[in-house]
Amino acid sequence: MSVRQPGDVARCAASVLRLFEDYLGEFRDITRRAARRHEQQEWQAIQRDARHRLDLHPALVGRAVTELGGASTASADHHARWIGAKRAYAELVAHRPDYELAQTFFNSVTRRLLTTVGVDPAVEFVEEEYDRPRRSPERAIFVTYAPQATTAALVHALLGSRRVAHQPITFDAASIAEIIDRRRRAAWGAQPIEGVDVLEPVFYRNKGAYLIGRIRGGGRLLPLVIALVSDGARVVVDAVLLTEDDASIVFSFTRSYFHVDVEAPHDIIGFLKSIMPAKRVAELYIALGYDRHGKAELFRDLSRHLAASTDRFEFAEGDRGMVMVVFTLPSYDMVFKVIRDRFAPPKQTTRRQVLERYELVFHHDRAGRLVDAQQFEHLTFPRQRFGDELLAELTEETSDTVTIADDRVVFRHLYVERRVRPLNLFLREAPPVAARAAILDFGQTIKDLAATNIFPGDVLLKNFGVTRHGRVIFYDYDELAPLTDCNFRRMPEPRTLEEEMAAEPWFYVGPHDMFPEEFLPFIGLHGELRELFLQAHGDLFDADFWNRMQALHRAGKIVDIFPYQEAHRLHAR
Ligand SMILES: Nc1ncnc2c1ncn2[C@@H]1O[C@H](COP(=O)(O)OP(=O)(O)OP(=O)(O)O)[C@@H](O)[C@H]1O
Ligand SMILES: [Mg+2]
Repeated sequence: MSVRQPGDVARCAASVLRLFEDYLGEFRDITRRAARRHEQQEWQAIQRDARHRLDLHPALVGRAVTELGGASTASADHHARWIGAKRAYAELVAHRPDYELAQTFFNSVTRRLLTTVGVDPAVEFVEEEYDRPRRSPERAIFVTYAPQATTAALVHALLGSRRVAHQPITFDAASIAEIIDRRRRAAWGAQPIEGVDVLEPVFYRNKGAYLIGRIRGGGRLLPLVIALVSDGARVVVDAVLLTEDDASIVFSFTRSYFHVDVEAPHDIIGFLKSIMPAKRVAELYIALGYDRHGKAELFRDLSRHLAASTDRFEFAEGDRGMVMVVFTLPSYDMVFKVIRDRFAPPKQTTRRQVLERYELVFHHDRAGRLVDAQQFEHLTFPRQRFGDELLAELTEETSDTVTIADDRVVFRHLYVERRVRPLNLFLREAPPVAARAAILDFGQTIKDLAATNIFPGDVLLKNFGVTRHGRVIFYDYDELAPLTDCNFRRMPEPRTLEEEMAAEPWFYVGPHDMFPEEFLPFIGLHGELRELFLQAHGDLFDADFWNRMQALHRAGKIVDIFPYQEAHRLHAR
């Protein structure tokens, strides 16, 4: 059979590699542009670049499928050809510093070409092959600084010669040294610093730039995140973060991806993991913009977890959604969301619109407030891991998407995202101090979203959640919209008694009309929390606030949102 000829197989492998290199080339071009964008303060262009970069992987995979799918013969031959192509491709990429990205690209292509359901290890790279291949000696990815007579001198050594966005860094060595020493003493006692490693590449994201490193001493580590901002003429140190939690929040799954140019992602991920051991490898890849590879890692992590556990998938705790069936595995901190076949009134949305809203969020600045959802297709789970009630719901409500076979449940489409504690449940069970903090952060969430031109639509507490760091985020996207598409109005004054007593609005309400005065009763807070919320965030109930925000966005302003608390900012000290 001609299709098994080595030449044919080699051509397939070479074609996929060429398209992978096209993808990577463009990805790195855009990524490298961030430094110049920062220098020129081209904030709008940075967001455009970010959106464009997200589309590269699917676009190039799509091109590969078009190029390679055309000549397909009988499907058995087709499959055989790709088994051979996988072997040839494995040889071609084994010594690349980004081999794991190359493998994932190949998987994306064959999954689409062969419409793989579940996993087909004959034509896909799977877990065992992810092991690090032999590579020539590593190029150093970080610079190591030896201890100096004082911490201030060390800070000088570290920052004095660095350039960010083609500019030198402006910093106050004494105050940075003080922050480092205080933290070091609290964590290590008398143990002195033995060395500091700082990653070579700069991490850019929106208006922020970050240097990432670690401080070593006595076999222990402190993460080092130096947050930089451009104030027009200079690049200035804005904050120095030294705890795993603070670093983790900067790398959160609720933020857009960094632009950081790396040769060997695997090595950078290893470094990041050393300072944030609690973060999944998958999340770290995603944070660097390799969301497709991150998704592959997430799937492997989940498969490993399923093999090592016995609990069953269950409904996620909290109010059931009208648009989504949401379930979780108690021992795994993710939730799975399937779109229902039909939506009960008053929901007026369609499946297509729901997909579009998730797509909008994926491309938008998530501002630390919108959970990142990974989209999976043709995913299967063992049937015996599902309880009867959940299976019944999936059968009745999601049969367009879910097929239940004897031994497995096949999901044609599924969102996977981090599990958080729904805010309505959190407020019920949290100690008063934590509940108060959450309610204040809830208001700030709505404001941060408004600052990035997002109106959540459905502001009920059940649609927000609390992360393990106590941050409030939003996860229900089916009614979310750009702020500038909404029309924020004051309630008109009734002119007659009939109007005043009317149960339904007596005035015309357009499809995009919002009445901020009505948000408070809608949110349904009571007692002390209600008072607290009104005091801190009463402006949310006035159309003026929203109209001001809209004016800002129409003028093309990009508001600063820092991934750390105001108290961490150096100017605040
Ligand atoms: N990331 C998450 N972590 C924990 N629980 C979640 C998460 N996402 C959703 N849930 C739970 O599932 C429920 C339904 O999810 P979601 O609000 O996204 O769906 P929906 O169908 O759009 O809801 P609605 O009917 O409010 O429009 C939530 O109220 C919450 O209890
Ligand atoms: Mg909801």
